[in-house]
Amino acid sequence: MNKGDTVIARIDSLSHEGLGVARVDGKAVFIEGALPGERVRFQVTKRRKSYDLGRTLDIIETSPERVAPRCRYFGICGGCSFQHLRAEAQLPAKEQVLRDNLERIGKVEPETWLAPLTGAHWGYRRKARLGVRVVEKKGGVIVGFREKSRSFITPLASCEVLDPRISTLLPALRELITGLSQPNRIPQIEVAAGDDSVALAFRHLVPLTASDNRQLADFARQYGLQVFRQSGRPDALEPVWPAEARPLVYLLPDFGLELEFAPADFIQVNAELNRKMVGRALQLLDPQPGDSILDLFCGLGNFTLPIARRAGRVVGVEADEALIAKARHNSGHNGIENAEFQLGDLYHEDAPNPWGDERFGKWLLDPPRTGAIEVVKRLPDQGGPQRIVYVSCNPATLARDSEVLVHAKGYRLKAAGAMDMFPHTSHVEAMALFERPD
Ligand SMILES: C[S@@+](CC[C@H](N)C(=O)[O-])C[C@H]1O[C@@H](n2cnc3c(N)ncnc32)[C@H](O)[C@@H]1O
Repeated sequence: MNKGDTVIARIDSLSHEGLGVARVDGKAVFIEGALPGERVRFQVTKRRKSYDLGRTLDIIETSPERVAPRCRYFGICGGCSFQHLRAEAQLPAKEQVLRDNLERIGKVEPETWLAPLTGAHWGYRRKARLGVRVVEKKGGVIVGFREKSRSFITPLASCEVLDPRISTLLPALRELITGLSQPNRIPQIEVAAGDDSVALAFRHLVPLTASDNRQLADFARQYGLQVFRQSGRPDALEPVWPAEARPLVYLLPDFGLELEFAPADFIQVNAELNRKMVGRALQLLDPQPGDSILDLFCGLGNFTLPIARRAGRVVGVEADEALIAKARHNSGHNGIENAEFQLGDLYHEDAPNPWGDERFGKWLLDPPRTGAIEVVKRLPDQGGPQRIVYVSCNPATLARDSEVLVHAKGYRLKAAGAMDMFPHTSHVEAMALFERPD
């Protein structure tokens, strides 16, 4: 098989990135646009030593799970990879990814599988970074997400997974930027939607003119938005309109909490799933008034503050200074007095080491994609927390860390389950419960 060849194959499974996997002459081929069970004619696009890549040209036998993608940019835009697969069939595929990783990398199997957490399939994304480019042959200013496997931007007039309050702004944003003095010096817009207001932060590489600022303020007023400009660090935002914006907020009603956040702050992208995820984490952690609990990678307190409502005491640790400040503020804002927050780089060996303190009988871990191996390895071989709830946005690192927890530190993997935080994308979020046998 050579690059450019056209080949027919039967698809056996779905890869972790949402590609159809076939075997041709004993070698794996990852084929864009193909689903398990289908027979497709594909073109070989890349050859590698241990696998090849291909793109579907036509489908000879169609999977019953195939549906027409709702979005007309599907296949070009890098945002989604699963719109051609029935939404209800995406979750079993993601569970399979989790299962495979735990088995292959972690050499572990949960004692119980948790029912997956799901929510609305469309319009769920409340936080995003939109790219902006000026491309004359595409009609001038384009606003959208990066294309699959290329650095171009897909010009979007709408986006089915974005919160509709943001998606419906896309054509107007394009028009707005076209009218600014130097559209090609606006590389991106950070968008963030709170429960009751939407903020946009325009990155600009040259100073904005008085007319630019006026147009941005008019836009904010016309659409009822908060608009910021950002010339330096991502978290250094200057308000354009209103001069003093009411902070963005999201509610966690089950815990009577209102969390404030800034447009550049990390928040969980899917509000509905976040509520369910926090509820599930608290159920597994089961905080009691006598408990002291540690929340590592705590961000602005998304889990810490709900824990504080139920536990005796909770300590959150986080590396981002702005998020620690926000967590402390959110704690006071909600009248919480039993939560403490410590700034610290948990990947650094000089990190604050509250986990040496045996009073923390329960931990919550919610690391970034790189996982928490540094933390997990520093757990004592004896003692240590009785219970760990691990929230993961990368099954490969969850599996790697599970291997250490189970095979080196003596924990049992009591339960694990997938969460569909990002429908139609290949992202797999998961939660796992580890317990020490007494
Ligand atoms: C997946 S987010 C979770 C945040 C929070 N638990 C939430 O639900 O909103 C991961 C967090 O880890 C923080 N983080 C990344 N690297 C870190 C490090 N080396 N030490 C401590 N925190 C870190 C990030 O700033 C981010 O807030």
